[in-house]
Amino acid sequence: MPVVVETISTLQQAIARSKQAPVGLVPTMGALHAGHLRLIDRARAETALVVVSVFVNPLQFDQVSDLNTYPRDLERDVALCATHGVDAVFAPSVQEMYPVPPMCAVDVGAMADHLCGKFRPGHFRGVATVVLKLLNIVQPNIAYFGEKDAQQLAIIRRLVREFNVPISIVGVETVREADGLALSSRNARLGPEERAVAPALQRALRTAADAIAAGASDSGEIRRHAASAIPADGRLRLEYLEIVDPETMQPVATVATEVCVAGAMWVGSTRLIDNVTARPPR
Ligand code: PAJ
Repeated sequence: MPVVVETISTLQQAIARSKQAPVGLVPTMGALHAGHLRLIDRARAETALVVVSVFVNPLQFDQVSDLNTYPRDLERDVALCATHGVDAVFAPSVQEMYPVPPMCAVDVGAMADHLCGKFRPGHFRGVATVVLKLLNIVQPNIAYFGEKDAQQLAIIRRLVREFNVPISIVGVETVREADGLALSSRNARLGPEERAVAPALQRALRTAADAIAAGASDSGEIRRHAASAIPADGRLRLEYLEIVDPETMQPVATVATEVCVAGAMWVGSTRLIDNVTARPPR
């Protein structure tokens, strides 16, 4: 069983006492699923001491209702961590993470201007701030993040690089259901009929990637073509489908090198995101 610690000082003492290195960190908001477990397995394979943080970070929620309804089940998360060989679960309270009203935050600049950042004001500022705090608290050698959240991963890579944080960031491939739907804690909110149409986003992104692989280069045309792959269904609303530079998350008008095709789609009242990497023909 992993040790479950709620305070920063207890965690730091446990890490120091273990004398194990390298240390791997998998930051999560809990409600663990097979996507999170893939990150944990990778950390288990590559590091000697695996720490999983479970913290629903209020700073990154732009909707109070989303924060309040976010699924929480620490007991189940700890049991899953136990079966995947995790050494320590860090589950701090909001008070422990934010003992004083936060006055400082990471400015993520133009990296949050597009994709999810455009529709969720302040979200990535909150993500980057909590991740920097977690990296400073745990001081791992390697931290693991999912490619599913491509903009988040790009921002964290940039944060670590620009602020000289001495930690390696590893991106882990998206885990999907058999029909292509990316695993997400929010999938649990889909009713059976919604679940059946949810893979439309992944199909639209693949449509764009296939067009790029076949030589299409005009982003506007590719995006329109891909969006038309989403069936006319009252439950589905595409929020965005964009083609961006994989490092800076800035829109690309003409595709000439590898790009990230990312989208967000509402299925009823549930918002899903996904992305694929696309390469033009040589
Ligand atoms: P959360 O949504 O719990 O995700 C934790 C990690 O799991 C993230 O790095 C995310 O990209 C990864 N992940 C989620 N679904 C995945 C899937 N289907 N395949 C592979 N990886 C997947 O992302 C967050 O929490 C928070 O923003 C956090 C980084 C913890 C900061 O609060």
